Amino acid sequence: MSNSTEAELIHMFKGIPFTTRSSPELLKSLDTFDAREDDVLLVSYPKSGTHWLAGVITKLYDTEVTITSPIEFGDISKLEELNNLSTKRIIPTHLDYNMLPPNFKKKKCKMIYISRNPKDTAVSMYHYYRDNPNLPTVDTWTAFFDLFLKGNVVCGSWFDHFLSWEEHEDDKNILFLFYEDMKKDLPKVVKKIALFLSLNASDKDIQDICSKSSFSEMKNDTEKENSDPSHTVCALTSNRKLIFRKGAVGDWKNHFTPKQNRRFEEIFNEKMKLSKMAKCFIY
Ligand code: A3P
Repeated sequence: MSNSTEAELIHMFKGIPFTTRSSPELLKSLDTFDAREDDVLLVSYPKSGTHWLAGVITKLYDTEVTITSPIEFGDISKLEELNNLSTKRIIPTHLDYNMLPPNFKKKKCKMIYISRNPKDTAVSMYHYYRDNPNLPTVDTWTAFFDLFLKGNVVCGSWFDHFLSWEEHEDDKNILFLFYEDMKKDLPKVVKKIALFLSLNASDKDIQDICSKSSFSEMKNDTEKENSDPSHTVCALTSNRKLIFRKGAVGDWKNHFTPKQNRRFEEIFNEKMKLSKMAKCFIY
């Protein structure tokens, strides 16, 4: 476990906690970042299945694409590196809709937002915090549970993040996906992604992509030398084993006490009372 303090690892930008791996200069410069019309954004709150989705998307293209680390990670040179890429860019981000570089919105770039039920997201994030020296130390699940509900974790409140994006549910250039749907019927979700990105994929292609994107394949792939490029999506650890932990739906049941569950549901119901998509979360 890390001994680093929160003050050493976290800074606030526009009211949201970022790790010091996201430099303030970079965050300030996002407002003027030049998007390209064919950029594809892969948007998520952390621990929602970003790597899984990235793996699927990169396999769907038969032309050269580059998947980058999240746009908000790095220092100011990051933007120049992105500008210099000559291939099509698949750009992940954990930013709230309101913090997204405006040019992505103006150019109506395609964006795919993946979400996961927030109880499992919290548990996944707890393990990630606990085992990752680049994140502040958390001593217990109970302590992390409180931090998560208050939004005092990297990328801020799960609720604010989701709601900021849900407001754009009807935008034609944004596709909303759920982790649990990928677990239930991956081929169906892959077809939906292919259609959204206007990519041809035969049934055989989809079958291949799904078998290469299973949890065990992706976990094992991290141990191979030329592993899947989608693994670069994470900028907070070079230990890929931290990313592919359990890959299950409902692991929260092994962590939440009945009292924590009641508290979580109360807050969920209150914060999400105007959300049309709240009912889509599978527990
Ligand atoms: P767990 O910690 O619950 O295992 P992200 O990529 O956004 O950081 O999300 C990481 C979570 O997605 C981890 O959840 C990880 O195990 C899960 N995940 C990654 N690849 C997966 C796959 N192929 N199938 C199912 N879950 C996967």
